[in-house]
Amino acid sequence: MKPFRRVARIGVPVAVFIALTTGGLGCTRRPAAAASPREATTPSATPSNDSLARARQQFIDQVTRQIAGRENELATTVFRNVQALTFQVTAAQLVRSMDFFDRSLGVGCNYCHIIGRWEEDSLRTKRIARQMIRLNGTINNELGKIREFERPVGVACWTCHRGLTRPARPTL
Ligand code: HEC
Ligand code: HEC
Repeated sequence: MKPFRRVARIGVPVAVFIALTTGGLGCTRRPAAAASPREATTPSATPSNDSLARARQQFIDQVTRQIAGRENELATTVFRNVQALTFQVTAAQLVRSMDFFDRSLGVGCNYCHIIGRWEEDSLRTKRIARQMIRLNGTINNELGKIREFERPVGVACWTCHRGLTRPARPTL
């Protein structure tokens, strides 16, 4: 768990969120064959969302080229309007989180952004997503208080959304 240790000093809830959304806990991009029951929540590309995945990759590549050489600087210094992914999140980690958001909600970048004008907050979905990032932090903070786990635990977008913009509601 080296990646986790490396970020642990910035606070467990933040570290867990970064790790979960960027693959630092080994939760993303695992081949299906290697998945154990504990990793069953991993979002993955399925044949049905191939074209979505291609479009998403194109924009990821575009942004990655724009930040070339500055990947390891803080996202807040590289990008123009970062208000939630603030604490020790690098530019490269922010980009990986965007990919994770897409896969968790089953959408493309245009669900939250006007393509190319990434810093704008004009879409309600982006404004909600920012509050969801904070909600995640609050939940992970509370989870961190449950000492009996004796291991890093946390939620991220996929935990609830599982490929849907609106998570399923329980039938009561
Ligand atoms: C579910 C909503 C959502 C999706 C989908 C999404 N983003 Fe974002 N994006 C955000 C939010 C929210 C922020 C601001 C984060 C903050 O304030 O800390 C952001 C910020 C950004 C920024 C920084 C812009 C700046 O200058 O401040 C870039 C670049 C970006 N997104 C690119 C992408 C790309 C590329 C994709 C598709 C792969 C994508 N986003 C998909 C919600 C989303
Ligand atoms: C604890 C569960 C939970 C987590 C974790 C979570 N969400 Fe949500 N999210 C919800 C619920 C519940 C709704 C409201 C769904 C509804 O309208 O019925 C929602 C709604 C949204 C919406 C608005 C959908 C719409 O069309 O109105 C966006 C965007 C969103 N979430 C993004 C995110 C992102 C990005 C993350 C990760 C940073 C995230 N969520 C993490 C539970 C969660």
